[in-house]
Amino acid sequence: MAKSVLIAPSILSADFARLAEEVAQVERSGADLLHVDVMDGHFVPNLTVGPPIVESLRKVTKLPLDVHLMMTNADAFIADFAEAGANYLTVHVEACPHLHRTVQAIKERGVKAGVTLNPATSLHTLEEILPDVDLVLIMSVNPGFGGQTFISSCLQKVAAARQMIDRRGSRALLEVDGGVKIDNAGQIVAAGADVLVAGSAIFSSRDYAATIAALRAAGQPASVHR
Ligand code: DX5
Ligand code: ZN
Repeated sequence: MAKSVLIAPSILSADFARLAEEVAQVERSGADLLHVDVMDGHFVPNLTVGPPIVESLRKVTKLPLDVHLMMTNADAFIADFAEAGANYLTVHVEACPHLHRTVQAIKERGVKAGVTLNPATSLHTLEEILPDVDLVLIMSVNPGFGGQTFISSCLQKVAAARQMIDRRGSRALLEVDGGVKIDNAGQIVAAGADVLVAGSAIFSSRDYAATIAALRAAGQPASVHR
């Protein structure tokens, strides 16, 4: 049977004043991972949360914490995020000059390592690091804000990343982040995504369970590609 796409709600679009409730609600509604966007006001023009929030989230949810580090000095915070309870730590290739060292440092902490590419960054930057990573994240918006429009040329990039991962025999999950909605989820999964991040699509909807189910269902017919 074809594997179902995994859904990772991004808490960036949640009500932070009611964060525990929001997280409980997406957990009850069938989320597979919880996506936590860490922004440093430097690599991206926005500020969000740090290790203390990850630590607090760890106490209120069993969902794997998928922590997306949009920061220039990720190396300095790997230990803190690992201790806080992150399950995946994903770093930007644009922000990590010593990417191999960074990925090893994540894995040495017992955390799964992800690498991510901005829309304008070539997939070739993955060639050398792919065997070492557990997750590849293709950004389908320029990172920094929720609620942006999916950049349609990223679909081709997702398909090319799928081919690269399969050709190399990698078991890395292929995740897509930015502008994912019910009406484009089918195409994104058809292109080869294993994990869909969705912020505004879920948290701006009235019924989180229905939205998560619809995102998953949109991906269903296409998942035979595996
Ligand atoms: C963007 C973040 C995304 C964002 C997605 O910089 O990395 O995870 O929360 O939000 P939507 O789904 O609203 O585009
Ligand atoms: Zn993200």
